Order: sequence, then structure tokens, then C-alpha cells
Amino acid sequence: MTRSGPPPGGTKSDTVIWQRGLVSRDERWHLLGRNGATVWLTGLSGAGKSTLAAALERALVSRRLPAYRLDGDNIRHGLNSNLGFSAEDRHENIRRIGEVARLFADSGAVALTAFISPYRADRDMVRATHVAAELSFLEVFVDAALEVCEQRDPKGLYKKARAGIIKGFTGIDDPYEPPQKPELVVHTDQDSVEACVEQILVLLGERGVLGNEP
Ligand SMILES: Nc1ncnc2c1ncn2[C@@H]1O[C@H](COP(=O)(O)OP(=O)(O)O)[C@@H](O)[C@H]1O
Ligand SMILES: [Mg+2]
Repeated sequence: MTRSGPPPGGTKSDTVIWQRGLVSRDERWHLLGRNGATVWLTGLSGAGKSTLAAALERALVSRRLPAYRLDGDNIRHGLNSNLGFSAEDRHENIRRIGEVARLFADSGAVALTAFISPYRADRDMVRATHVAAELSFLEVFVDAALEVCEQRDPKGLYKKARAGIIKGFTGIDDPYEPPQKPELVVHTDQDSVEACVEQILVLLGERGVLGNEP
């Protein structure tokens, strides 16, 4: 496919036909003076995805760069309110988020996603849709030891999982598959929030996402 063409899979049927617009991505990005991208934060519950996404959104918008946060719990209130935590629903959750992130990135924004996204195949699927559309997909492994996440337990979920009140909790009785080739690993059990944000901003700068900003 081409950048302005139909998504992978092409025309779906005789009645679902891709409609081309009159504004290209190049034109949108040129107006903004920068490239859109998706920053995909993945890691255990309590690793720091939401904290980093919020801090990054703050840092980018302060630089007058459009950024938009897609956070797990918030999305489950709306777009994905009909989904649970089975492997199938987790897959569909990530698929939909991936599609929304891709649209934000295409529009020229930085989509900041904060989902555990425990399965490698799901993250790779989202990466593939971005690659097919020639969009930057920056997978950031938000890494912290399970013991640290469990000690932080910002939402009290580990406690409930250990008590058997929550079943299928990632890291306890459900797997987390760490990325094998992420664009970046941040160690939130060693570095401060500010240091982790800075590392991600450096990556964005290298990928042309910060435009002409210093
Ligand atoms: N470097 C860091 N990056 C992100 N969070 C950190 C860091 N150091 C400590 N924390 C703390 O860890 C907790 C992470 O919680 P949260 O962002 O909700 O995790 P997640 O969204 O991954 O479940 C917060 O209380 C945060 O203040
Ligand atoms: Mg979170």
C-alpha cells in the first residue's frame, strides 16, 4: 500500500471501499513542521507507563507539540468498555488502541499509549500496521522488577491478585512477554521520572518528532 492508500487488506468488499481524501499526510505534517509518531509504552502494572505518558504529554505540549495520551483504564471506560481481560479481549483491546494511535500519528500528533500490552504478538501486530503505513512506532519497554512494581502497587491490584480476588493478573498468574527489540528501555526502578522522560525525548528528537524545537 501507499501512505495515502487503503490499510493492509485493501478494499474489503464490494460495499466497503476505501475513500481517498484531498489532503495528504505530507501536507498535514508540513503544516505542523514535524512528523507524527506512536510511542508505545509497555510494561508491568505499576512499572510507570501512566506516569511517564502523562509527563511526556506535559513536556511535549509545553513545547507546543500536539501529543495525546491513550491510557489503559481511560480507554476501558469508553472505546473499549465492552472488553474484559481474557486473552481474546486483551488482543482486541490492543488492536483497537493500535488503530487509534495510528490515526493520531497520521494526523501529525504524538500518540502516547500506556497499556501493559503483555503479549509480544499483539505489539508486533500494531508495529506492523504502523510500518505498513510508513509511520514511526517507538516501542518503549518501561522496565521495573516485579518486586518493585508490587511494592509500589499504586492501585492496590497486586494485593488483590495475591489474595486471589483478581484472576489472570499480569506478572502474577498471567504472563508478560518483554519486548525483544524495543526502540528504548527505561529503567524506572533505577532512574527518576524526569530522567526517563528525557531519554524518550532524545529518541523522539532522533526520529524527527520534535520538529525544529531545540
Ligand atoms: N522513573 C519512574 N517512572 C515512572 N514512575 C515512577 C518512576 N519512579 C517511581 N515511579 C512511581 O511508580 C508508580 C507507577 O505507577 P503508574 O504510572 O500508574 O504505573 P502503570 O501505569 O505502569 O501501571 C507511580 O507511583 C510513580 O510515581
Ligand atoms: Mg497505568
